[in-house]
Amino acid sequence: MASSHLFFHSLSLYVIFLIIIKVSQVHAIGSVFNVQDFGAGPDGKTDSSQAFLKAWNQTCQNNGGGTILIPTGIFLLNTLTFNGPCKGPIFFNINGLLKAPLGKCKDDYWILFQHIDGLTINGEGSLDGQGPSAWSLYNENGPNPPSSIKFNGMSNALIQGITSINSKFFHFQINKSKGVRFQNLSITAPDESPNTDGIHIGDSNDIIINKVNISTGDDCVSIGPGTSNVLISEVNCGPGHGISIGSLGKYQNEGDVNGVTVTNCNIGKTQNGLRIKSWAPSPPSKVFNVTFDNINMNYVENPIIIDQHYCPHSSCKNQGDSQVQISDVKFINIKGTSASKEGVVLDCSKSVPCQGIELRGLELTLNGQQTTTATCSNANMKFFGPQTPSECT
Ligand SMILES: *[C@@H]1O[C@H](CO)[C@@H](O)[C@H](O)[C@H]1NC(C)=O
Ligand SMILES: *[C@@H]1O[C@H](CO)[C@@H](O)[C@H](O)[C@H]1NC(C)=O
Ligand SMILES: *[C@@H]1O[C@H](CO)[C@@H](O)[C@H](O)[C@H]1NC(C)=O
Ligand SMILES: *[C@@H]1O[C@H](CO)[C@@H](O)[C@H](O)[C@H]1NC(C)=O
Ligand SMILES: *[C@@H]1O[C@H](CO)[C@@H](O)[C@H](O)[C@H]1NC(C)=O
Repeated sequence: MASSHLFFHSLSLYVIFLIIIKVSQVHAIGSVFNVQDFGAGPDGKTDSSQAFLKAWNQTCQNNGGGTILIPTGIFLLNTLTFNGPCKGPIFFNINGLLKAPLGKCKDDYWILFQHIDGLTINGEGSLDGQGPSAWSLYNENGPNPPSSIKFNGMSNALIQGITSINSKFFHFQINKSKGVRFQNLSITAPDESPNTDGIHIGDSNDIIINKVNISTGDDCVSIGPGTSNVLISEVNCGPGHGISIGSLGKYQNEGDVNGVTVTNCNIGKTQNGLRIKSWAPSPPSKVFNVTFDNINMNYVENPIIIDQHYCPHSSCKNQGDSQVQISDVKFINIKGTSASKEGVVLDCSKSVPCQGIELRGLELTLNGQQTTTATCSNANMKFFGPQTPSECT
């Protein structure tokens, strides 16, 4: 009796053991696709584009999804599109260095991920956009240079661990997506590199950016039209142009921006700190429910700036106001040093003045000693409690 009980007991353990082996085999053999098995060459000379596409196709079409494994080494990749939908979640595991082609590219992306639900990009690898070979070849009147990685129509994506270097345009661009999280990333390009925004978000919602270090030539993070529910935290930004909402109002029928929180970030040696900008003139849209909280500034030229007369090119002077309505924006506990006398600039639209701008707990000094100023026009704002600057001049 006792021994047959023991027998069945060990039999069932054995069956469970077999099942575990079976499951882990399926996981290991069935769902990991190494790009080298498809002909990718880690030598920095072979064009591995077709190999990556084949590996992608296999992984994406695999029932239950899988991992596309990029080993260490240098892989040259042309402009590439990884299309979904896929038959399960996909892990894009980058351990090596992916290198973009030199010079100009035909599309506005180098690598495009499109229509995928449940993509994770991870690993300890890097992307080199080879920006220095292209920055001088583009101008503002022609087509945009390629973003290193563009996401289009994605849902539930996670990007973590990797490094992006020297993009030709934006490092990461998110379009028409929902539920995208960036964490533990490093993004770098030289201070003077043109339009190398770290992460640009447009027409998307539920975006989280956490623990990302960004030093680049343009905005560390820029939030474009049609975006809601964005949380940016523990970001180290600089050099660069700071964290921006905008530019807004460049085109007709842009969506609103709302529900943006930027908290616990360090911004250093940047042109701007926290900025909202809209073109003048510009068609109507709205920005509302924005909170900037607990931000440390280190030698930032314009720590807090709302600029509704944004017009970087000479072509658009004095042709009317911005119709972008900015309301319910809080700046709380913004501390540190400004590189200029102007700690706060609120330059709002004459025809749709800013409403409900709150400033609390500001401590912005010039060189750690002198107080900074605040200048405001067309802004309905309130300074709460003792702070520096303490009122608009
Ligand atoms: C990948 O799949 C797509 C769609 O099924 C097909 O058009 C393309 O040729 C495939 N590419 C490769 C490299 O297998
Ligand atoms: C962050 O990413 C790096 C590089 O991929 C990795 O070594 C490290 O373990 C990651 N840290 C965390 C907390 O995930
Ligand atoms: C965003 O995606 C939509 C739909 O695919 C497309 O029409 C639009 O051009 C894209 N915008 C950008 C900036 O890529
Ligand atoms: C970001 O920078 C901080 C401070 O230098 C460092 O501790 C952290 O590991 C960096 N994170 C990444 C993802 O590089
Ligand atoms: C404001 O936005 C935050 C997200 O940043 C959201 O949680 C909150 O519900 C929004 N508040 C209102 C009144 O819409």
